[in-house]
Amino acid sequence: MEIRPTTDKDLDVFVDTVHAAFGRFPETPIEGGGLWWSALEPDRCLLALTADGRPVGTAATHSFELTLPGETLVPAAGLTAVGVLPSHRRQGVLSAMMRHQLTELRACGEFLSVLLASEATIYGRFGYGPATYTARLTVPCHEAALAVPRARGVADAPATGSDNDSVEVLRRAECGEILEEVYDRYRRAQPGALSRPHRWWALRAGQPPISPAPRYVAVHRDAVGVPDGYASYSVESGTLTVDETIATDDAVFTALARFVLGHDLVSQVVFQHVPPEHPLRWQFADFRAGEVSGDMDWLWVRLLDVPRALTARGWFTDGELVLDIDDPFLGEHDRYLLTVRDSKADCVPTDREPDLSLDIGDLGSIYLGGTAPSTLVRAGHIRAHRPGAATLADALFRADRSPHCLHWF
Ligand SMILES: CC(C)(COP(=O)(O)OP(=O)(O)OC[C@H]1O[C@@H](n2cnc3c(N)ncnc32)[C@H](O)[C@@H]1OP(=O)(O)O)[C@@H](O)C(=O)NCCC(=O)NCCS
Repeated sequence: MEIRPTTDKDLDVFVDTVHAAFGRFPETPIEGGGLWWSALEPDRCLLALTADGRPVGTAATHSFELTLPGETLVPAAGLTAVGVLPSHRRQGVLSAMMRHQLTELRACGEFLSVLLASEATIYGRFGYGPATYTARLTVPCHEAALAVPRARGVADAPATGSDNDSVEVLRRAECGEILEEVYDRYRRAQPGALSRPHRWWALRAGQPPISPAPRYVAVHRDAVGVPDGYASYSVESGTLTVDETIATDDAVFTALARFVLGHDLVSQVVFQHVPPEHPLRWQFADFRAGEVSGDMDWLWVRLLDVPRALTARGWFTDGELVLDIDDPFLGEHDRYLLTVRDSKADCVPTDREPDLSLDIGDLGSIYLGGTAPSTLVRAGHIRAHRPGAATLADALFRADRSPHCLHWF
């Protein structure tokens, strides 16, 4: 089998093969763009071909920037468009493409790869671990009075009505660059968030509100009129569905939530992509007002260079841990001493006795602070070699705020 990057001449073959792998026909172009694959970078698309030159497999990466705890921005290769023709499955095509791709990424100096998994059983074997989570929150409007914020100063904002003075409803098509700018400000401070390259917005490639699908957008502005948040939504049969609520701080999120919950002729609001532990539920008069569903993994992380990855993120507790790390897919086994002092980490090879033994995928899961190491110890994934090691790891790996990603790719 040959694995090679696509060229400008055979990007259409790549796109055709991905669709056949998923059993879908390519979408009809929508006026104004919106084709997910138009955001692909041809030199980062791989084709797997049989000995007689027939394309049977595809995989690509987007060049994203990922926000790490401590508001550090690093490059991350976003694996996407992974597919193998139904006629060629379970013959090692994906494994060969993954080996090729991870090796190439490393050779180019990339140290992190991320993905969204169509099935959670596929990517653990390649060293990816689930690192951020998402859920849907459905709120019947009559039960949802936002009660708490006022007492805590989130809302120096008044109880009702005038919050809405800072919210303007635009059609998606009227938003110009507002969404791109607000999203960019938001994602720089949000661990786990990915950049949305300008090309995505320009080509309108992706899911709403990037795509040209009709949407209303509630745009929130600060005291001097600068947009600092938005909620992109549609209403159907009494249900208002918010694709994404982007807010540069919690008070802005509260104002946007109050706005959509107060919409006329709506019996319930569905907030897509609410991260675990989001404060919104604590702001309802009735804690049970919001029903959480669709709880699932979202961003998966794969470390390709452990010392680089660990020293890149921000740290918030001092401490020392010896990590014994197995990477069965790449056939590597290393032991590192992680030392955190004054918010900076040092990570060097060691032959000291380990505190924790873990697979590279488990390290991906705890890396952004969205999965507690002790949970993986209790689940039997990570082995703790001494009492207190898991508790120390929990404290060390915790992020400044819960990681969250809502970008689809
Ligand atoms: C998922 C997919 C790419 C796998 O390709 P493939 O070439 O069959 O994978 P491989 O033969 O390299 O399989 C490697 C291993 O992964 C396992 N595996 C592959 N797909 C799996 C799946 N969907 N669920 C569970 N295990 C899977 C194989 O059983 C094999 O295990 P083994 O090493 O223990 O024998 C292919 O089935 C496909 O195109 N599916 C539809 C599109 C899709 O879901 N793409 C993923 C988008 S995120």
